[in-house]
Amino acid sequence: MTALVKARSLTKSFAGQAVLRGIDLDVAKGSVTCLIGPSGSGKTTLLRCVAGLEVPDAGAIAVGDVAISYGCPPGAATLARLRRESGFVFQAHELFGHLTALDNLTVGPVYGHRERPAAARARARDLLERVGLADKAGAYPGELSGGQQQRVGIARALMSRPTVLLFDEPTSALDPETVGDVLDVMRDLADEGWTMIVATHEMGFARGVADRVAFLDGGLIAEQGPPERVLAHPAEDRTRQFLARVLDPLGGRARTARDARSAQAAFRASHPFA
Ligand SMILES: Nc1ncnc2c1ncn2[C@@H]1O[C@H](COP(=O)(O)OP(=O)(O)OP(=O)(O)O)[C@@H](O)[C@H]1O
Ligand SMILES: [Mg+2]
Repeated sequence: MTALVKARSLTKSFAGQAVLRGIDLDVAKGSVTCLIGPSGSGKTTLLRCVAGLEVPDAGAIAVGDVAISYGCPPGAATLARLRRESGFVFQAHELFGHLTALDNLTVGPVYGHRERPAAARARARDLLERVGLADKAGAYPGELSGGQQQRVGIARALMSRPTVLLFDEPTSALDPETVGDVLDVMRDLADEGWTMIVATHEMGFARGVADRVAFLDGGLIAEQGPPERVLAHPAEDRTRQFLARVLDPLGGRARTARDARSAQAAFRASHPFA
């Protein structure tokens, strides 16, 4: 296996609280890895370490040709090289509200990396078309639905021609009816061969699209493997308990058969891949 992303013995604490406690992860070129796990288990922190947005306390990370060992603090130039390897899609898309969709895509390449504006605009139009938003190039974020804004966020992540795409719960802040469009774009990117790491609670997406699922608990990968094994036949009790909670969010608290039915209908509506 050619691992495009490698993490070894990664540790990270915030104010003395251990958040990552020795993470080993290999992500093969062209594969999709879903990170699942309870709130606070370290999914976002792991993604941010891979992206170079957070500096681990110890361990090593390699993404593409950039490898960093965190025995001593890395220099700013090395971290900047690591950051360029990743395209990050945030939970809240974090677009500039005063810029059009097109300008949100071009501002980084033009002002940060001195790309010619005409060339950047041409690439941005292609990418907006790819995420189904060719007609929204001139729209401001406030004029777009949450799902459309998130698709602009995905196109923006693609602008830097990253080695790997990192998604941090890209659909969890969206209205249910826009979730499917975003997941469709992500599935297309996976089919095109992008290497992706996706923190998500969308179990249907994990089951249908991921090559591997890693279950994080308390800053450790408690188990990982193909989705059909981890999701259908988890080896660990804590994975089983987590999956039961995610798949039955009311935890058996629905009081009547009607409550249960409407809870299931609401869940299906907001999880189109389930
Ligand atoms: N910048 C920070 N400063 C202090 N503590 C932090 C910081 N970032 C994360 N933490 C803490 O680290 C722990 C792990 O957080 P993280 O965001 O990685 O979890 P998560 O698995 O992404 O959770 P969620 O599913 O809620 O997004 C949490 O206890 C969180 O409060
Ligand atoms: Mg998170």
